[in-house]
Amino acid sequence: MAEKTLILIKPDAVKVGNTGKILSIYEASGLKIVALRMLVMTRELAAKHYEEHIGKTFYSRLVDFMTSGPLAAAVLEGETAVAKARAVNGATDPLQAEAGTIRKLFAEDKTHNAVHASDSVKNAEREISIFFSEAEIFDI
Ligand code: TYD
Ligand code: MG
Repeated sequence: MAEKTLILIKPDAVKVGNTGKILSIYEASGLKIVALRMLVMTRELAAKHYEEHIGKTFYSRLVDFMTSGPLAAAVLEGETAVAKARAVNGATDPLQAEAGTIRKLFAEDKTHNAVHASDSVKNAEREISIFFSEAEIFDI
């Protein structure tokens, strides 16, 4: 069965009109969009999504940013979708991101870094359930 992962197009990228371009890059990598919505994250939602980072030095900066405006959430499906989406995203810090990655192309810095992707199949399942109900994920 094909793997699923959660990606977020963060408020910085949505604000400047890069949502469509970023979705196209995922599609060009062979991943299929099987769920899609826009929303503004509450601090509660951010805490659920980023529970592993609660207490870290960058946590409040991260949550301030993630709640600052609308973002786009999508479920991507395909072979090794988790690893593929993270490879397409590039390194967390755009200064370290490889040429051609989304973060190299569109991220401003380590916090305002354009995109999120789940880091394991287990976290993908957990994160997908935060943003989407079963009925909102399509068998395409
Ligand atoms: P992390 O899970 O380490 O990165 P990734 O998004 O690549 O999985 O961190 C989550 C987010 O927290 C990251 O995308 C941006 C933010 N962050 C900072 O603002 N400063 C930092 O030093 C780190 C490590 C992350
Ligand atoms: Mg992470």
